[in-house]
Amino acid sequence: MTHLTDASEALFRRSAESLVEGGSSPSRGPATYGAHPIFMREASGSRVVDVDGNEYVDWMMAYGCLPLGHAHPAVTAAVREAAGTGAHFATATEVELDVAERIRSLVPGVEKVRFANTGTESMMAVLRLVRGYTGRPRFIKFEGHYHGWYDDYLANAHPRPPASLGHRHDPVKVAESSGLGRHALDDTVVVPWNDLEAVERALANHPGRIAAVVTEGIMANMGVIPPEPGYLEGLRELTRAYDVLLVLDETVTGFRIGRGGCQARYRVEADLVSFGKGLGAGLPVAAFGGRGDIMEALAWGGVLHYGTQNGSRIGLHAARANLDALSAEGGAAVEHAWTIGESLRQGLQEALDEAGVPARVQGVGPMLQVLFTGADAIRDYRDYCAHVDAERYRRFALALFGRGVYTTPSAALHWMASAAHTMEDVGRTLEAVRAVLREGEFAG
Ligand SMILES: Cc1ncc(COP(=O)(O)O)c(C=O)c1O
Repeated sequence: MTHLTDASEALFRRSAESLVEGGSSPSRGPATYGAHPIFMREASGSRVVDVDGNEYVDWMMAYGCLPLGHAHPAVTAAVREAAGTGAHFATATEVELDVAERIRSLVPGVEKVRFANTGTESMMAVLRLVRGYTGRPRFIKFEGHYHGWYDDYLANAHPRPPASLGHRHDPVKVAESSGLGRHALDDTVVVPWNDLEAVERALANHPGRIAAVVTEGIMANMGVIPPEPGYLEGLRELTRAYDVLLVLDETVTGFRIGRGGCQARYRVEADLVSFGKGLGAGLPVAAFGGRGDIMEALAWGGVLHYGTQNGSRIGLHAARANLDALSAEGGAAVEHAWTIGESLRQGLQEALDEAGVPARVQGVGPMLQVLFTGADAIRDYRDYCAHVDAERYRRFALALFGRGVYTTPSAALHWMASAAHTMEDVGRTLEAVRAVLREGEFAG
């Protein structure tokens, strides 16, 4: 199969001179992509074209930032209009209010909203807020969850050898980076996910010291791991019983898994919720919100949250157009992404089964991941570390590039269906997958 990427390679050689790893994040460089990343030139709907002119069906969707697909006409028009009338006025804007009102009407339990730029920033502010509001220092963070690169969250977020994890009653706390503050993780209590007994044990072990339980609604940074039936509801009951706040990180799931996110889908109401990725339709917009009495602690003199770029006018024009398009016709765009995601998931599983390759395709609606494993399901971080062959997956994803399918080469991330994908995209992808499986291109 000829898949020429000479222009990408030349650009990478040039960019490695000026940019660390030739890009702006380790997940976009050779650590993930092999010899060099593919440099993309342009995109529209579900398709993306690289600098060599190769076209791909895009299942990355900008790490989930594009629930409507690339260059959606309403988003493009909104960005153009905002860019032509001024990017920043150093004061409040109407579009900020418009987006906050839309979030309030879509997301259960959100009484007040604050805008930030990235998921990391938003989750940093949330942590300060729960500590400030409760006057307690500690929080529960689950194994394998990722909440951005802020020091206090940066523990047990990447896969590692099972023998290094410690006993599940007392997980070994592992920092994910050099350079963290020396005491940054002292108040981070790490607990296995999808296990209510583990949470209750931790709550009981730190009486009066825990401000909040912080969780992703669906685990989206170890492939895709759904909550066990009743798990999120159980977290809500436990946090109420121990008078601890519940924070839902919907950076990935917000406005994607449903317009009301995991709270609506699993009928659980968090005290605070954080959004990023899917909110700004590709522009850096994030937000957090929740109970009015907690959010009001941010008011002047209370818990400090600043940001010159908070509530970026251009970004919020994109977010307003995005939320409106996602809400049109009773949420048809979100339903369409579900249909595509489920068809793709079933098709992938069938193709792998037919080829006799041990793998589970796990997902919820538009989010899915191919996990090369002999296990019948991956239910938490420990399962993932023990049973998932991430290197085999990487070879599989890189082989798909050569056949016109662009998806994450990281087994810990996932494929993302959007409103722009079609059944033709699904068919083309499954054809590519069958070819890769037939040719054994990823056997390694
Ligand atoms: C669940 C979750 N929270 C927070 C973040 C951080 O968001 P950002 O990369 O926008 O800082 C991510 C990013 O992948 C995420 O998956």
